[in-house]
Amino acid sequence: NMMREISGINEMEKRLQSLLNLNEIVIVPGNSDESPWVKEELGRASAFSIKQRLEGNNIIAVTGGSTMAAVAEMLTPDFSGSDTLFVPARGGIGEDVKNQANTICAKMAEHTGLRHRVLYVPDQVSKEVYKSFLTEPVIKEVLNLIKSANMVLHGIGDAITMAERRKTSPDDFEKITAGHAVGEAFGYYFDESGEVVHKVPTIGLQLEDLKHINHVFAVAGGSSKAKAIRAYLKSAPSSTILITDEGAAKELLKGF
Ligand code: BG6
Repeated sequence: NMMREISGINEMEKRLQSLLNLNEIVIVPGNSDESPWVKEELGRASAFSIKQRLEGNNIIAVTGGSTMAAVAEMLTPDFSGSDTLFVPARGGIGEDVKNQANTICAKMAEHTGLRHRVLYVPDQVSKEVYKSFLTEPVIKEVLNLIKSANMVLHGIGDAITMAERRKTSPDDFEKITAGHAVGEAFGYYFDESGEVVHKVPTIGLQLEDLKHINHVFAVAGGSSKAKAIRAYLKSAPSSTILITDEGAAKELLKGF
């Protein structure tokens, strides 16, 4: 529309799509670091993009975070022409309940009138307990569903912010800082060149699984996340659709 042309958003989308090698990019006006309503706009834009790509049957794997929580709020009952299931992408990686993937999947199901499954993985248990846990039929069933997802929705975080927000052990924290991690997604921490310097060990989707997934939506905004977004995108699959805001986009463009 007119507003987008005047503010140069369409132009920024074109430039960043080719510079960052993306399947698609959507930029919403504003900067979510400064205005909380911009996250709602990220949510609205994501809901629209997802809807356009729904097939008859869908399994949508979702990560945690406040951005994904905003996406959940913007999903609507018009998703329900499809047979769609929401599943958490990975097991527990240390978030507050409201930001956990399980909670967000439940919200997405509630707002769309569709189904969801949960994956409860204890955060700190012995190797033995963990191993026997993995043999539980319900866990195996949910893991199989996750591995057959045709869509993934995920957030991207600043590495240090995420390491602090999770209850990261001093040893792992040291790995993250010594490795100069700047970005984080799915529990993987990336340095500026996109190399993984640390990974939260848990079950569910692994980074290499993303290659086989048709639609991967990365949703992250705010100028403070530009470094993180750039780092993650260096190893992101080419099917990635980035949904971001003007704040992050302007900062991203400065790097070229
Ligand atoms: C976490 C995800 O829950 O949220 C991370 O596991 C992601 O991979 C993070 O980086 C983003 O959080 P927020 O609140 O900035 O959207």
